[in-house]
Amino acid sequence: MLEIKELCKKFRDRIIFEDFRMSLADGEILALAGPSGGGKTTLLRMLAGLESIDSGKVIFNGKELAYDKNGKLLKSPLGFVFQDFQLFPHMSVLQNLTLSPIQTLGLSKAEAEKKAGQLLDALGLAGHLLAKPYSLSGGQKQRVALARAMMMDPQIIGYDEPTSALDPELRDQVAELILDNKKSGITQLVVTHDLDFAEKIADNILKVNPRV
Ligand SMILES: Nc1ncnc2c1ncn2[C@@H]1O[C@H](COP(=O)(O)OP(=O)(O)OP(=O)(O)O)[C@@H](O)[C@H]1O
Ligand SMILES: [Mg+2]
Repeated sequence: MLEIKELCKKFRDRIIFEDFRMSLADGEILALAGPSGGGKTTLLRMLAGLESIDSGKVIFNGKELAYDKNGKLLKSPLGFVFQDFQLFPHMSVLQNLTLSPIQTLGLSKAEAEKKAGQLLDALGLAGHLLAKPYSLSGGQKQRVALARAMMMDPQIIGYDEPTSALDPELRDQVAELILDNKKSGITQLVVTHDLDFAEKIADNILKVNPRV
């Protein structure tokens, strides 16, 4: 269970969040909707420890998470699938997946490659281990980005606009992927402009700053 209480965030004088609250139950899919500029990406970035939080509490499984000296969460439970995927362009799919777990989780190369192989297999990408990102389709890059997030065994997966670059057929594939993850018990937070998509996948929909 993830709870956010009294969260405040400004960029210079501009208030993005003031006393924002949210909770996300284990296994839940929560869609975050809201206008452009409302702070959806900022919220995901704060939860992933990539953006500083001015004040407020982030409580995960009953324990308040600590911040570093810059206000960024130290141990984020959230794995992040970026809107533009942010795959490393000069690396193969396999290297994109194994880099972080080897560097930050201390997995051996063999362990990381085995895990990557299993995930890519499950996501229908077994034939693309050595491909570079530029040679993949939008939907394939999306799945590589998801596999890369899952390599870190995150307790929550956050997606930023997972369907924005996709045609309707691939949009349905992403919906299926997210629903499959739910069946495996993964908790998910999905930022989307697309209310039809949100209604299709989400248990709950939270509007972020609807008045912006
Ligand atoms: N690093 C930053 N420095 C200053 N302002 C920022 C920064 N990042 C975001 N902002 C501002 O914060 C507000 C929220 O941005 P954010 O990207 O979170 O919105 P969003 O809800 O994800 O919008 P969209 O739907 O267009 O992706 C915007 O006004 C944006 O200009
Ligand atoms: Mg955004």
